[in-house]
Amino acid sequence: MAEIGKDIIHAKSLLEAGKLVGIPTETVYGLAGNALNPDAVASIFETKKRPSFDPLIIHSDSMEKIKRWVLEIPEKLKILADEFWPGPLTLLLPRESIVPDLVTSGLDRVAVRIPSHPLTLELLKSLEFPLAAPSANPFGYISPTRPEHVQKQLGDQIPYILDGGACRVGLESTIVGIEDDQIFIYRLGGLDVRDIEALVGSVQIKTHSSSNPAAPGLLESHYAPSKPFILGDLDQLIQDHKHDKKRIGILSLQRIFSNMPIESQMMLSEKGDLKEAAQNLFAAMRALDELDLDLILAERMPDQGLGKAINDRLNRAAAK
Ligand code: TXA
Ligand code: MG
Repeated sequence: MAEIGKDIIHAKSLLEAGKLVGIPTETVYGLAGNALNPDAVASIFETKKRPSFDPLIIHSDSMEKIKRWVLEIPEKLKILADEFWPGPLTLLLPRESIVPDLVTSGLDRVAVRIPSHPLTLELLKSLEFPLAAPSANPFGYISPTRPEHVQKQLGDQIPYILDGGACRVGLESTIVGIEDDQIFIYRLGGLDVRDIEALVGSVQIKTHSSSNPAAPGLLESHYAPSKPFILGDLDQLIQDHKHDKKRIGILSLQRIFSNMPIESQMMLSEKGDLKEAAQNLFAAMRALDELDLDLILAERMPDQGLGKAINDRLNRAAAK
């Protein structure tokens, strides 16, 4: 076996001592702690200022370990796990009592995933416990896809960030569960829904709202920049706003508007490629949020494949 890196040994020893570490995954960076240690889990909630009704995903490196923390894996979900793990899939599975209540907010199911980032997989292999890890951003803000995003917002509060570069997927994992033999998607994410349906048949997408406790945490307003964020037809929006002397930022899939200042425009993919757009989305939203602007105008993506998940994030960023 290859020798394990110094950075991983450092992360491991902090985690074993109940401390928190920023970890790279292929989706977004996570704020990780020992999921079986209620004190570590409590400090995740505290650090993120996250309400305790919003449960956490636990991460591990193998099915063998996951079986210690769940009662069973329903057949259809097993098919998805076999296909997509390691990768941007989270499964809701009936939990063993060893998983602390705080992790699941008292729910019967625990969210589980095997991430595919090689550094984090190696770290998880070296640990006997799963890592609880929400996205490493203050609650309600844009998710981090680069180590510097984590450093900037949580760097003062955590002892270490494992640097794994920019995230390959850029959107959080797709959350899937089963109720009475029907597959539900509770959060659109890094997997294309069509790829899931090809394996297990038609799925239903459960809508989220601030008043739907069946999908806690999937709040309507989320991923929110600190500036007003308006979604719609960009030509129309620019027309509507350009005369009121406002400094305007623009987030588009693949257009640049020659009548607007170039430095406040972000294009997600010149080729209009939705995978690339997903990769760039959160970093572009952050970059615009850091400019001296009065408002940000954005357009929806084509409603297919990853475009659906990007639109979900845009809709929630725009929700009040
Ligand atoms: O890609 C990801 O999933 C990233 C990386 C770090 O793995 N993690 C992530 O975690 O996005 P977080 O905490 O930001 O979002 C997890 C979502 C929350 O909306 C939460 O409500 C939902 O998963 N969730 C967690 N456990 C649940 C459960 N037992 N039942 C229903 N929803 C659950
Ligand atoms: Mg999050």
